Amino acid sequence: IMPYTLPLHRARRMVSRKKALLLLLLALSSLSVLIHQSAHLSWSPKPSSLNCPPTSLPRPKHTSVAFLKTHKTAGTTVQNILFRFAERHNVTVALPHHACDHQFCYPRNFSARFVHPHTLPPRIIASHLRFQRHELGRLMPNDTLYVTILREPVAMFESLFTYYNQYCPTFRRVPNGSMDAFLANPLAFYRPQEKFSMYAHNILLYDLGGDNNHSPADPTYLPSFIRQMEEVFSLVMIAEHFDESLVLLRRLLSWELEDMLYVKLNMRGPRSKGNVSSEALAARIRTWNALDAQLYEHFNTTFWRKVAQVGRECVAEEVRALRRACDQLVHHCFGGLPQLRPATQIKNKELRPWQPSAKVDIVGYDLPLAVSSSGAPPDERCLKLAMPEVQYSRYMLRKQSLRSRRRVVPHRPLPPRAVARPARGLPLRHPTMPKVA
Ligand SMILES: *[C@@H]1O[C@H](CO)[C@@H](O)[C@H](O)[C@H]1NC(C)=O
Ligand SMILES: *[C@@H]1O[C@H](CO)[C@@H](O)[C@H](O)[C@H]1NC(C)=O
Ligand SMILES: *[C@@H]1O[C@H](CO)[C@@H](O)[C@H](O)[C@H]1NC(C)=O
Ligand SMILES: *[C@@H]1O[C@H](CO)[C@@H](O)[C@H](O)[C@H]1NC(C)=O
Ligand SMILES: *[C@@H]1O[C@H](CO)[C@@H](O)[C@H](O)[C@H]1NC(C)=O
Ligand SMILES: *[C@@H]1O[C@H](CO)[C@@H](O)[C@H](O)[C@H]1NC(C)=O
Repeated sequence: IMPYTLPLHRARRMVSRKKALLLLLLALSSLSVLIHQSAHLSWSPKPSSLNCPPTSLPRPKHTSVAFLKTHKTAGTTVQNILFRFAERHNVTVALPHHACDHQFCYPRNFSARFVHPHTLPPRIIASHLRFQRHELGRLMPNDTLYVTILREPVAMFESLFTYYNQYCPTFRRVPNGSMDAFLANPLAFYRPQEKFSMYAHNILLYDLGGDNNHSPADPTYLPSFIRQMEEVFSLVMIAEHFDESLVLLRRLLSWELEDMLYVKLNMRGPRSKGNVSSEALAARIRTWNALDAQLYEHFNTTFWRKVAQVGRECVAEEVRALRRACDQLVHHCFGGLPQLRPATQIKNKELRPWQPSAKVDIVGYDLPLAVSSSGAPPDERCLKLAMPEVQYSRYMLRKQSLRSRRRVVPHRPLPPRAVARPARGLPLRHPTMPKVA
């Protein structure tokens, strides 16, 4: 500022008014060029970005993350981001033992025994599990950051009701698959002791390790549960604000914007999307899932407080940069907008998403044989971007098993009780247990 104010002040007397105006215009236009350039460089936003508060010195990327993947909350998309990061940075991902399928023996309480020995010691974990702080603490490095994601309970319940209509015994019992009929009298259908009953009642709380059948009338239970969560989780993302969530996650982990690129995975086709049309129905869903509703409300509030701490405008700017970068990648991979297709129309079987039942379509992507702009086949990065959970988990296990067999240096042993035992003793997977969610 100094070099400009001084000559300007003198200019009053020494230079004509016209010249001073010219000088000011010059200063303003070079400033605007600077602003413009910094917007273009925002692919990887710099701490100097105008709307963002200055950060301390750049930290190295944080590579130890425990993502608690909750059900029907866009968790598959976050998992895909973490898997791709792990591959690019040679970070080991904990994967379930064969006997646990693609989830860590969910709905059982998580145990370090469920982890495949070829994936020890891990720095990232991102598959479905029922949270147990202590067991994860024994498995993961002590600098691990814990994150999770929640979704608004009304939309979430509609999704669960459709997705698990054949798996959850509660939902199977409901005549005509009618959500109205269920909500008119949930207790007529719900049996808390049945396997997979948690899909029907406060599933967020269940996934987080809480008691999903606790009375919402108990004024002490939820506040103390929330306090524990806040001690453990550095970030609770909100599915309704997915891109803002990724911005906070990127900042927490000091990752690059490039590490956060995604396409949405594991979505239902339009035929399978229901509609909670009345406010009365929505209110019943919230009453039935009162614990989840309060949990969501609390963490939605803290989420926006975190956004405000970073600066709303700063977050909004980075969201725009993220969306631009995602568009660029999608264009590179699909040669245009990717078309969502039912699994039967996807030629590459590595890209066919798993279908929970004949009544529900889960749509996915096919990659073009050649990207029209370049004529080259889409690269590995594109394949992984669109790869559904089941195939990606299998692929990662194969890859890490090969590496673990080649490894000469023995890995850090777990405390004695955590050393993975053979699968014997674990019950076989329930024949109808859903593999993905
Ligand atoms: C990852 O590991 C592979 C094989 O061990 C090695 O070739 C590669 O350089 C490593 N990459 C990084 C980023 O460490
Ligand atoms: C699972 O964890 C919950 C919460 O920590 C606990 O109340 C319950 O007893 C555990 N269940 C089993 C079978 O260990
Ligand atoms: C974390 O673990 C390392 C070695 O594994 C140890 O040196 C360090 O003191 C531990 N830090 C904490 C906070 O426990
Ligand atoms: C189920 O659907 C049938 C035929 O559409 C109808 O007659 C019946 O009343 C329905 N039952 C309930 C409980 O809604
Ligand atoms: C959902 O219901 C609302 C209100 O009845 C209606 O306007 C909307 O078109 C419906 N959406 C779908 C996808 O059916
Ligand atoms: C989440 O919080 C924001 C900001 O307070 C609010 O605008 C929004 O309505 C909340 N979302 C829900 C679904 O409650």
